[in-house]
Amino acid sequence: MLRIAIIIGSTRPGRNGEAVAKWVHEIAAKRGDAEYELVDIAEYNLPLLDEPVPPSMGQYSKDHTKRWAEKIASFDGYVFVTPEYNHATSGALKNALDFIYAEWNNKAAGFVGYGSAGGSRAIENLRLIMGELQIADVRAQVGLSLFTDFENFSVFKPDERHVSSVNGMLDQVVAWSGALKPLRNA
Ligand SMILES: Cc1cc2nc3c(=O)[nH]c(=O)nc-3n(C[C@H](O)[C@H](O)[C@H](O)COP(=O)(O)O)c2cc1C
Repeated sequence: MLRIAIIIGSTRPGRNGEAVAKWVHEIAAKRGDAEYELVDIAEYNLPLLDEPVPPSMGQYSKDHTKRWAEKIASFDGYVFVTPEYNHATSGALKNALDFIYAEWNNKAAGFVGYGSAGGSRAIENLRLIMGELQIADVRAQVGLSLFTDFENFSVFKPDERHVSSVNGMLDQVVAWSGALKPLRNA
């Protein structure tokens, strides 16, 4: 069965990202078409990139890098749950992406963004990065508004219509994660 990670893109104390990612995971877990797992970057205690050799060379020297690489390698696709910080994704998620390389290649990804404009600029930022990591990013995306999907910008109360958006995005992630399997096996 395909394995899809739902990655919490914020490590901030009091983050909204955890509730959003758990909601995505609950929707995904009901589908039965893949094994979905929540992955919390915060649990990996990654410092700012401290590998002396560029990750694309595949010579990881630190235990935290090896642990992160092993986890990411175990998936066929990803859902990045991203906040928008200053019109981009979070530094924590960018750093976690930068840390490793081959483990991301020939996988698929979808996005769930949140912010004042549905995290759309953070998602566009991630789409640029995906090409360099050889991750195929699907068209469908989910945008959650701090104004209408949260109470007081902090209590997550998503509009019901987003459930079908999440499922539409997951349909594409599952399809492309499966389609890229021959490349991963080569
Ligand atoms: C450093 C910082 C910069 C932000 N910049 C933006 C922004 O450019 N656009 C936006 O829509 N929201 C912005 N926000 C609001 C965040 O999207 C919102 O606080 C969100 O809940 C952050 O995710 P988190 O709670 O999971 O960390 C910013 C928040 C922070 C902390």
